[in-house]
Amino acid sequence: MKIFIKTYGCQMNERDSEALAGMLIKRNHRIVPQEDEADVLIFNTCSVREQAERKALGKIMHMKKLKRQNENLIIGVIGCMAQNHGEALFKEVPHIDFVLGTGQLHELPDLVEQIAEERRQVALLANSEAVLTGMSVHDFSTNEASIFGQVAITRGCNRFCAYCIVPYVRGREMSREAADVVAEVQDLAAHGVREVMLLGQNVAAFGLNGILTPPADDVSPFGDLLTQVAQVPGIARVRFTSPYPSYFTSHLIQAIAAEPKICRSIHLPLQSGSNEVLKRMNRQYTNESYLEIVNKLKAAVPGITFSTDIIVGFPGETEADFQATRDLMNIVGFENAFIFKYSPREGTVSAKHEDSVPQEVKEERNQILLADLALRSQKANAALIGQRVEILVEGPSFRNPARWTGKTSTAKSVMFAPMPGVKVGDLLTLTIAKATGMSLFADNIPDLADIN
Ligand code: SAH
Ligand code: SF4
Ligand code: F3S
Repeated sequence: MKIFIKTYGCQMNERDSEALAGMLIKRNHRIVPQEDEADVLIFNTCSVREQAERKALGKIMHMKKLKRQNENLIIGVIGCMAQNHGEALFKEVPHIDFVLGTGQLHELPDLVEQIAEERRQVALLANSEAVLTGMSVHDFSTNEASIFGQVAITRGCNRFCAYCIVPYVRGREMSREAADVVAEVQDLAAHGVREVMLLGQNVAAFGLNGILTPPADDVSPFGDLLTQVAQVPGIARVRFTSPYPSYFTSHLIQAIAAEPKICRSIHLPLQSGSNEVLKRMNRQYTNESYLEIVNKLKAAVPGITFSTDIIVGFPGETEADFQATRDLMNIVGFENAFIFKYSPREGTVSAKHEDSVPQEVKEERNQILLADLALRSQKANAALIGQRVEILVEGPSFRNPARWTGKTSTAKSVMFAPMPGVKVGDLLTLTIAKATGMSLFADNIPDLADIN
C-alpha cells in the first residue's frame, strides 16, 4: 500500500515515525510524500499544548474530503493525542479508521494490514513493554546518505511535572539495554551516520529504573552510555535531549568533560527561575541547584553552551517570578530557548488551578525573553569573529546552494564556500569572519560584504 505519514510534536515523535516508516517499507509498503496519492494516511500526534492538538485535529477533520473521494482510504491517528483521547476520537472524527496509542506503536504494520482486510474501526491503547525494543528499526531508504541519526533510549516519563501531559500519554518510564543502543548506533554508523541524537522524555534517567530521587554522585548509567556511544567507530558527535537537571551527577559531568565527541551544547530544561513556581510545577530543583549544575558543567567543559525550555504564565506566576526567570536566563547566558505559553492540560495537576495569567501577559513575557535571547546570541556570535571553529559538514545550504553549511559542536550554523576534497560528514576547521544573530560565516566566502 501507499502510506502517507504526517508527524506533529517532538523529536521522539519524529523518530517514532521514522521507525514506523522503516517497518512498513520492510513489509513492502511504500511511503509517499502526498496525502492525495496515498491508500493510508497516518497522523502521529502530540498533546503537549492545546494548540498542538488543535492543529492535528483540524488537519484530520479536513481529510474527510479525501475519504469522500476514495471510500477505501484508511485514516489512522497514532501517538500522544491518540493515547489521550482514545476511542472518543471516533466520535470527534468519525471518518477515521483506527486509533493507536503510544504503548503499542510497533503494532502499526499489522494493524494497517488487518484493517485493509476487515474494514472496521479499531482502537489499540494498552501499554506494552515490547514497544521499547519494537521501535528500533531505521528507514535508510528515505534517509539515505543522511549523516544524522536518532536513537530513542528511554520511553515514557515518571516525573509528573504539574503542567505536563507526557507521563499520562507516554506511560511509565522504561530504558533500553545499553548493548541494544550501542548496536543500533553501530548500525547507523555503518550506514554513514556521523552524528547521533539520543532521545528520551527523561533521557538522563537512562538505566535508573524510573527512580525519582537523584542518584548518588558517582552514578550515571547515562554517562556510561554516552561514553560507549561516542566510541563507536565512525561516530563524530553525540547529542541528547531532553535531560532533567537532577540527573547531572559528577559522574555524568565527568563523562561529558572527558569525551569531546559529546556536543558542547546542552539542552537543560529550566521551565522557571522562580523557586515558588518551580515548587508548584513539581520540578525537584531550585534556581540555586540548577545554577550549581550549570556552573559545574561550565567549569568542567570549557566553551560549553546551554539551551532550555521555559514556560511563561504558569498559574500564579507574578511579575517578580517572571523577573527571576529572566535574571537566571541571563546569568546562565542561554542563547537559545524554546519559550512556551502555559497551556492547561486536562488531567494534569496544574489544570485544577485557574489559568490566572492573561494571554496578553503571557505573550508579553514571551516576547521579552525572545528579545533577550536574540541580543545574547548576537553578542555571542560576534565574539566568535576571528576564532577558529570545528564544524561537521552538512552540505549545500538550503537557501543558497552556492554556499555550504555545517554546525559547531555548540550547534551554531556556519556558512562557508565549498572546497575541493571537502565532503558531507567531514569535520572541518574554519575561521569565522562574519556573524549575524542566526549564522556564522567563514572567511573563505568571497562576497562576505553582501551579507547582512
Ligand atoms: N521531557 C522534557 C519535556 C517534554 S515537553 C523535559 O522534561 O524537559 C517539552 C516542553 O514543553 C517542556 O519542557 C515544557 O517547557 C513545555 N510544556 C510541557 N507542558 C506544557 C504546558 N502544559 N504548557 C506549556 N508548555 C508546556
Ligand atoms: Fe513532562 Fe516533566 Fe516528564 Fe519532562 S520531566 S516529560 S516536563 S513530566
Ligand atoms: Fe508531544 Fe508526545 Fe512529544 S505529547 S511533545 S509528541 S511526547
